[in-house]
Amino acid sequence: MHIVHTLPALADALRPYRHPAVVPTMGNLHEGHLALVRQAKSLGDLTVATIFVNRLQFGPQDDFDTYPRTLAADCAQLEAAGCDLVFAPTEQEFYPEPQAFRIAPPVALTDLLEGQFRPGFFAAVCTVVLKLLCSTQARSAVFGKKDYQQLMVIRQMARQFNLPVNIVGGDTQRAPDGLALSSRNGYLSSDERAQAAELYASLQTVAQAVRAGHTDFGPLETHAMDSLRQRGWQPDYVALRRQSDLQMPQPGDALVVLAAARLGTTRLIDNLEL
Ligand code: PAJ
Repeated sequence: MHIVHTLPALADALRPYRHPAVVPTMGNLHEGHLALVRQAKSLGDLTVATIFVNRLQFGPQDDFDTYPRTLAADCAQLEAAGCDLVFAPTEQEFYPEPQAFRIAPPVALTDLLEGQFRPGFFAAVCTVVLKLLCSTQARSAVFGKKDYQQLMVIRQMARQFNLPVNIVGGDTQRAPDGLALSSRNGYLSSDERAQAAELYASLQTVAQAVRAGHTDFGPLETHAMDSLRQRGWQPDYVALRRQSDLQMPQPGDALVVLAAARLGTTRLIDNLEL
């Protein structure tokens, strides 16, 4: 496995290949990221992972400074998963001048759910992802369904800009108790970790109610948020939406239930397709 830190070294490493399949990450890798890498292996002639903690997508109160940076361990795991090339630029390399050009995703995609609670987040994600896809000459790129809205926004960006890349979704990898794997799970105390699977359990409860025929979604969402609150969570939302664009569902739409909630100081997100 080749590890490069600069754009010229990346271009050199890419030259012999026609179809790089890329997995963008911010590092501190876990089985969720590695599953995307294994998926990417069947999609191209070179499997590339990028590791870059993108300052633009962190709010002023967010954990940019403390976000875990574990490059050596990440590379060992990537090599074992069959990754061919790692692009891990420094900030100076990737943002040598202030990133004044930004992608502005449509308000209809960003004014809801995560976008409401993280202003500017998807503009920052689109900007860095566009830049990473260009730099790596990605022909396929794999993103986790764990970040459902992120995957949807990136998919639509790629479509509207005719990017020569196939955006592929990867299933959410979970711990045995159901908690979605996340780099931020490391912030949980052991008591919080023992409780953390309640978020997924509340999604399952909503999904079961819908499968059982409940069509009045508002009360289901409210009840799920109330029961999280009673257990000490601070939920931002529990929302039943249609899968295609995360807008309010119409009868017959394929559904997804999404949630974000804070446990102590750690904010977790999860979702479940019905
Ligand atoms: P990061 O949080 O490191 O996640 C990198 C990729 O791994 C994303 O596509 C994310 O959805 C996926 N992922 C995370 N946890 C997962 C899990 N449990 N199962 C499956 N996939 C999982 O998402 C980002 O980085 C950044 O926003 C990025 C796209 C790299 C832009 O900076």
